Amino acid sequence: MLRVVVCVSGGGTNLQAILDKVANGTVKNTEIVRVISNNPNAYALERAAKAGVEGVCVSPKEFADREAFHEALLAAVLEAQPDLVVLAGFLVAIPPRMVAALPSRIINIHPSLIPSFCGVGYYGLHVHEAVLSRGVKLTGATVHFVDEDMDSGPILLQKAVAVEEGDTPEILQRRVMEQAEWELLPRAISLIAEGRVRVEGRKTYIMNSDEEMKG
Ligand code: GAR
Repeated sequence: MLRVVVCVSGGGTNLQAILDKVANGTVKNTEIVRVISNNPNAYALERAAKAGVEGVCVSPKEFADREAFHEALLAAVLEAQPDLVVLAGFLVAIPPRMVAALPSRIINIHPSLIPSFCGVGYYGLHVHEAVLSRGVKLTGATVHFVDEDMDSGPILLQKAVAVEEGDTPEILQRRVMEQAEWELLPRAISLIAEGRVRVEGRKTYIMNSDEEMKG
């Protein structure tokens, strides 16, 4: 069983997609062992509770400084003994110490086709606002491994989504979620749970089941 900790900050629709696909068997050999939020009011924590998954809040407001917050966050993650940490709308920059503690074991979903519209300041609706201002015709979502820099780690999965005339940031955000994010993130977890993902430098390779059989 792949032990997965999911980190969230808000509504938790990506968390829900994961919970649903673990529950219905689409994502196999996976257990969501803990959900961690930096925001005590995140609806994602209610989604965790409804699914019978332990929810933990580690809010920066409870700590004297960033260092103490980072320490508590890492402790909450490691205590759950995860094989994989999934950032599902977690709007906190991951401290280098956590990346070092869990090398190639943290993945993130970002609502654009990296390396476009990513990095500092690009999160949530801001990404879709920037996409619409730039006038691109295609956007999408990316699942990538987390390294020391923001949105820069090895890319695992991407899916393009069309921008349509009349889109608002909210409409586009919803389309990207429905057509890309809710599909990509569970699939990424599934591939990792099946042992089919290899990371080499900045690249990832997905083995098909046959290759895996051959070793
Ligand atoms: C998602 O669109 C996710 O890709 C984005 O926040 C949203 C969270 O929604 N993440 C980022 O922008 C990270 N840079 P959710 O809470 O409903 O899953």
